[in-house]
Amino acid sequence: MRKLVLSLLSVMLLSGPVYAAGDAVKGAKVFKKCAACHSPEEGKNKMGPSLFGVVGRHAAAIEGYKYSKAMKKSDIVWDDENLAHFLKSPRKFVKGTKMSFAGIKKDDDMNNLLAYLDTLK
Ligand code: HEC
Repeated sequence: MRKLVLSLLSVMLLSGPVYAAGDAVKGAKVFKKCAACHSPEEGKNKMGPSLFGVVGRHAAAIEGYKYSKAMKKSDIVWDDENLAHFLKSPRKFVKGTKMSFAGIKKDDDMNNLLAYLDTLK
């Protein structure tokens, strides 16, 4: 138990300063909504590209993954702000994206998810 608590704590500490101090442990639960299509592991693409190292990455940057034209042309850098806009309403932020996901509507879920995504590096 103690070990578990310590490792949870270190995940939170390592997640660093993020968008409104989200909780990466809770964010890992929110990520279940993404996990059907995205792996958090490096080099592992599913229906969507791997999200390893996504924070700070340029959009459509994974070699060998077949992005939509819309994503290739988007010229976005995935910082917290752009991720938040995209994940709230993917098809509004990148018109023509092939990511079919309704969006994360709750701010808490969003902040926690962003904190979690920031640990994938
Ligand atoms: C139904 C499958 C599906 C779900 C669910 C889904 N995605 Fe996606 N995602 C995709 C696909 C497909 C793409 C590629 C989009 C394109 O090329 O237009 C993508 C692209 C992305 C990108 C851009 C990656 C890059 O390399 O530029 C991010 C970031 C992303 N998704 C995050 C998420 C997160 C976080 C969630 C959960 C909240 C999520 N996605 C849920 C299928 C999905």
